[in-house]
Amino acid sequence: MSDPLVIFTPSGKRGTFPVGTPILTAARQLGVDLDSVCGGRGICSKCQITPSFGDFPKHGVTVHQDALSEWNSVEQRYDDKRGLIEGRRLGCQATVQGDIVIDVPATSQVHKQVVRKEASTRPIILDPATRLYLVSVDEPDMHEPTGDLERLKRALENKWNINDVESDLKVLHQLQKSLRKGEWTVTVALHRPDHGPQRVIDVWPGFFEGPLYGLAIDLGSTTIAAHLCDLTTGDVLTSAGLMNPQIRFGEDLMSRVSYVMMNPGGDVEMTNAVRAAINELTETLATQGDIDPKHIVETVFVCNPVMHHLLLGIDPVELGQAPFALATSEVLELPASDLDLTAMHQSARVFILPCIAGHVGADAAAVALSEAPDQSDELTLVVDVGTNAEILLGNKEKVLACSSPTGPAFEGAQISSGQRAAPGAIERIEINPVTKEPRFRVIGSDLWSDDPDFTSETASTGITGICGSGIIEAVAEMRMAGLLDPSGLIGSAEQTGTDRCIVDGRTHSYVLYDGSAHDGPVITVTQGDIRAIQLAKSALYAGARLLMDQMGVETVDRITLAGAFGAHISPKHAMVLGMIPDAALDKVTSAGNAAGHGARIALCNRQSRIDISKTVRAIEKVETAIEPKFQEHFVNANAIPHKTDPFPTLRS
Ligand code: FES
Repeated sequence: MSDPLVIFTPSGKRGTFPVGTPILTAARQLGVDLDSVCGGRGICSKCQITPSFGDFPKHGVTVHQDALSEWNSVEQRYDDKRGLIEGRRLGCQATVQGDIVIDVPATSQVHKQVVRKEASTRPIILDPATRLYLVSVDEPDMHEPTGDLERLKRALENKWNINDVESDLKVLHQLQKSLRKGEWTVTVALHRPDHGPQRVIDVWPGFFEGPLYGLAIDLGSTTIAAHLCDLTTGDVLTSAGLMNPQIRFGEDLMSRVSYVMMNPGGDVEMTNAVRAAINELTETLATQGDIDPKHIVETVFVCNPVMHHLLLGIDPVELGQAPFALATSEVLELPASDLDLTAMHQSARVFILPCIAGHVGADAAAVALSEAPDQSDELTLVVDVGTNAEILLGNKEKVLACSSPTGPAFEGAQISSGQRAAPGAIERIEINPVTKEPRFRVIGSDLWSDDPDFTSETASTGITGICGSGIIEAVAEMRMAGLLDPSGLIGSAEQTGTDRCIVDGRTHSYVLYDGSAHDGPVITVTQGDIRAIQLAKSALYAGARLLMDQMGVETVDRITLAGAFGAHISPKHAMVLGMIPDAALDKVTSAGNAAGHGARIALCNRQSRIDISKTVRAIEKVETAIEPKFQEHFVNANAIPHKTDPFPTLRS
């Protein structure tokens, strides 16, 4: 009689196996994606499968009720203790008895797809670099004088076929105690780098099911934003951010480089400041997520080149002058302790995405990972809006990248009433083109300012200022309402027909909110604010336009606005302002914090770390600082929306 046929779904993989073969073994032999931490001991429950019975004409089999072995004592014990979902079996315990169809549920797959809250973001296939393995280690023997570590390595090789393992001194400090406490059975967290030996991160006595955690950190010049992720599910437990404390040394990147040039040791001060902030942020996230920070075993950083160097403790001076040489542009993988990141696990690993060029950093690489323009048929412009804008343009054929110094105006800095996007900040604005009267919405309230209940909704915070997306809308609405001329000059009360345009020194300001009705501050848009936004938007447009020149195109198929606040920018207002090139509005979409999402992909999926290195090597870099055309584009983009670009789609 021939051996029974085993068919796995959804993979469709099939093969014949002798009666008595555990389903986990059959899965392994066929290369089916079925998880296991305990290696078949019936402890971890990662190997759960769902057998199907009945006729399966599609597969050409009939599965009888006795096609799998009956529950054994291990399964029964597991079910009594922790409960198995009805219809499920443990793949390591159930054995083949006849032809059978086995479904591997998504939760039992090693490379499971992380469920996304944000439908617009690229899916993540969970396969983190750090994984857990349960092993039984031979006890020491007088006749075989090998060390505990050597026997642990041998056990990993015998049980899991892992044969190139290293450990550092911190792990050796714990190893002997863990082995003896676990009576020679331990759970090992192994970190798998892109190449070279795997590294022991920790050893726990007996079975340790985790969870293990990781941080995805977008280290920006102005803000540091981080997600705390569960590495066993890929879920974001919590997110938090704080101001980059380096701001006190200079608001933008070049002023920080200048600080180092003028103050010997300034780089060390800034390195210490940012590392302390990351430790603080780690503790905040752990408290928010109600976890032990010592279970954070991985951290991925994305950042611009200056932040990259300062995080690593490398003098950034070379990045302030042509040819903008990076100390290294390759991916970096190192112990967190090398960066004084002491709040997390003592053997945690840090992964830093590759930089694209001296002015185009690992944050742009993360955007490329998240938005994947290199896999698109459409010519896609991705603009990650921040203090420094990262801009990518490309499709399957070719991808170009540059960065553009937009300054902090888009983040609410350098704006008279500007503030970070936080409750109380005005974020949405409309100005009636006839009456010139504004209405607005603040963060933390769903109501517009002309709603009778608006005051009580905002009572806890008051109206405190205007954030980046708010100032963009304010300027665009002022232009559409005729309060601004194309050069960006605010008109007088006589010219505009509204008393909201007040004299402010030698220029005029527009009173957006007079404060009196709700006992708040007066919030105006000043001529200085308009100029700051003009400079920022001109830099952004000029960068995009430069890439279009290099690509030899006049239009793009799609525009993606990304960045911590890029997601909140209204495409219409961005185009009225001339921040981005002309395009049909339905072709302009938001991608949220693409750099942060790219960091999360790299945190949760090991293969993506390898892929992004190849992608970055293929990206062509364009250096805005030395391209004469950039200045020309910048000057022409100062007008609102533009001096020479007719923006035909916008006007139609
Ligand atoms: Fe761990 Fe089956 S492999 S319970």
